[in-house]
Amino acid sequence: MQSRKLIVDVLAQKEIGSTVEVKGWIRSVRNSKAFAFFVLNDGSCQKTLQIVIDADLPNFTEVTKLLIGSAVRVIGKIVESQGKGQDVEMQASTIEIVSATPEDYPLQKKATSLEFLREQSHLRVRTNLFGAIFRVRHQLAMATHEFFSSKKFFYLNSPILTTVDAEGAGEMFTVTSLKPHELKAGPDFTKDYFGKQTHLTVTGQLAGECFAHGLGAVYTFGPTFRAENSNTARHLSEFWMIEPEKAFMDLEEDAILASDYVKYLINSAFKHCSDELEALRGYHEFQAKQEKQPFTNHLEVLDAVRNSEFLQVSYTEAMQILSKSGHKFEFPTNWGDEMQTEHERYLTEVHFKQPVIVKDYPKHCKAFYMKQNEDGKSVRAMDVLVPGVGEIIGGSQREDDLDRLIQRTRELQMNETHLQWYFDLRRFGGTPHAGFGLGFERAIMYITGMKNIRDVIPFPRTPNSCEF
Ligand code: 4AD
Ligand code: MG
Repeated sequence: MQSRKLIVDVLAQKEIGSTVEVKGWIRSVRNSKAFAFFVLNDGSCQKTLQIVIDADLPNFTEVTKLLIGSAVRVIGKIVESQGKGQDVEMQASTIEIVSATPEDYPLQKKATSLEFLREQSHLRVRTNLFGAIFRVRHQLAMATHEFFSSKKFFYLNSPILTTVDAEGAGEMFTVTSLKPHELKAGPDFTKDYFGKQTHLTVTGQLAGECFAHGLGAVYTFGPTFRAENSNTARHLSEFWMIEPEKAFMDLEEDAILASDYVKYLINSAFKHCSDELEALRGYHEFQAKQEKQPFTNHLEVLDAVRNSEFLQVSYTEAMQILSKSGHKFEFPTNWGDEMQTEHERYLTEVHFKQPVIVKDYPKHCKAFYMKQNEDGKSVRAMDVLVPGVGEIIGGSQREDDLDRLIQRTRELQMNETHLQWYFDLRRFGGTPHAGFGLGFERAIMYITGMKNIRDVIPFPRTPNSCEF
């Protein structure tokens, strides 16, 4: 009995002369009278295995009729490759057709548009491009656990159902078991499943703060939901966020943790996904040529980033840079104005041309839980901005002064009764503490160079779109 192997292992082990079994999908077919070639991929790696099929194979005629996308099981001998591009190939002795694709298989070899592929979300992962993106996504998730675990942050599963609007932006999805007619009558949430209005969480942070005050340091890595109506290339209604939180940590240490984490992610992708990154680079180069745009190799940019310090500026300095830039912005740039995407991108892409951490934002621009500075106007917030994406991380030192925290929730007319437990964290052994949230898809965009966030999540959810 020959052993079944993944293509990744066949290509790594290069056991010339051994007979193995592989299973996968046909990427391309080349036929001639005397023999045929399949290019086979099984998802285990970016590379493919070339299968050589001689005309004396019993089912040669059926096999050579197979179309791209068909699933096969192949047994054969590993031989040195005659062609260039691979060291080994497989000389097939048996090919079993697991499923033959009909004529109208939607993914053909010719470059297919990302928009089209988004409608084929169930099939797009079989393409070269999406295989690369989703293997990188996996690696970044693994790297996240490695990074925080090595720094003694414990992995925390924070709840998905919650009654707290922690970000205060009011962009929450309500979860209810009330019937349509009960909702229509003006919903009485005291009669709802949990006895009060409940939402899908926008952040795991408050749970993180809670557990950081017992375990010392924790991180969440879970789905978050925002009902904001921003149909942009950088927003999803359901996205994944990594939120570390640590007791006895201030904003300075938080900023270092954030930049070390981003660099760790880049390093990990370079180390474990070189074939994927190379395929992505090739894709972007091809794309730039098609669109007659200048091509910048995003891998060179990332390589420089992982070896450099992240710059830090205050919100005040950032707004001055924008005001003096001579650039015409759609939104104003006076102290106190919201920093808009166009501002963030100008700072990181045009002015600094590298990642930059902006700190100490006006308090009315940020959430209630952030620690107030002595000036009474600004808070200890930090946003990490990167070229091509903009905000990738939002974080802060948290308000540990109970009186100030209560005062702030009153100013914002928040529901204090829902927050008593959160106040208790300050009453009983409170500490100066801090954390941040990294938008996982934004980080994947940054590292893969993809321009639309919908292309880096398996099944994107956006306004008016919840398919599959
Ligand atoms: O800046 P945000 O809103 O911060 C928080 O939620 C804090 N509770 C984090 C913390 O301090 N623990 O969101 C954090 C990050 C953003 O920087 C962005 O990368 C991402 O989450 N993000 C989104 N990603 C995709 N789609 C959306 N609609 C996003 N909203 C935020
Ligand atoms: Mg933010």
